[in-house]
Amino acid sequence: MTASSPVRFAVLASGTGSNFEALAAAAARGSLGGTVELLLCDVADAPVLQRARDRGIAALTPDVGRFRTRIEDERPWLASLHEHGIEVVLCAGFMRRLHATLLAPFAGRMLNIHPSLLPSFAGRDGIGDALAHGVRVTGCTVHLVEPEIDAGPIVAQTAVPVLDGDTRDTLAARIHAAEHALYPEAVRRFVCEPWRLDGRRITFGDGPGLARRAGRQVAHG
Ligand code: GRF
Repeated sequence: MTASSPVRFAVLASGTGSNFEALAAAAARGSLGGTVELLLCDVADAPVLQRARDRGIAALTPDVGRFRTRIEDERPWLASLHEHGIEVVLCAGFMRRLHATLLAPFAGRMLNIHPSLLPSFAGRDGIGDALAHGVRVTGCTVHLVEPEIDAGPIVAQTAVPVLDGDTRDTLAARIHAAEHALYPEAVRRFVCEPWRLDGRRITFGDGPGLARRAGRQVAHG
């Protein structure tokens, strides 16, 4: 089954928020497959909060403690997502590990963007690690979120060349530009088009596509 009415999205972000901006702009153009209803941010002075305010999108900074999310911390987050009728969660530079409290209710309905061609260079510094390794091609990946970090089934990827003379900043700028095109389009396909999951492999073109509500399962195979 494919989504037939606009999906209600929340974005989880911790920092600059350029991907939040790309997602919100796509939603405003009607090309995301739904509306960005909520920003959840774990950093009280993150620039992404101002971006949400500028766009009139509700922004919450739940108290999550200083170092890492404890399971009990995620309950207010989950309550906020439910209060806003959120159907799909989009992680965009969210630098905190999530746990089952939040992951389980949104299984199959939570995406993330990572700045490398996964499974290469998972982890906190996908750009720096790719540059240090000396690869000639890196990129960005949109994937389903699962408990293991940066490891869920891949929805979409874009390759980005590493050029001679690249610094971390020049490579990051090229990857971010690719992300801003990739993420909104991957979200639109994910919520609007049919797809199926065979093992780890997502195939577009037929299948049940997005399972929108908690309790409905994404079909496997
Ligand atoms: C992006 O590179 C994204 O891939 C990674 O964190 C960065 C967030 O950047 N997960 P921004 O806050 O969206 O500008």
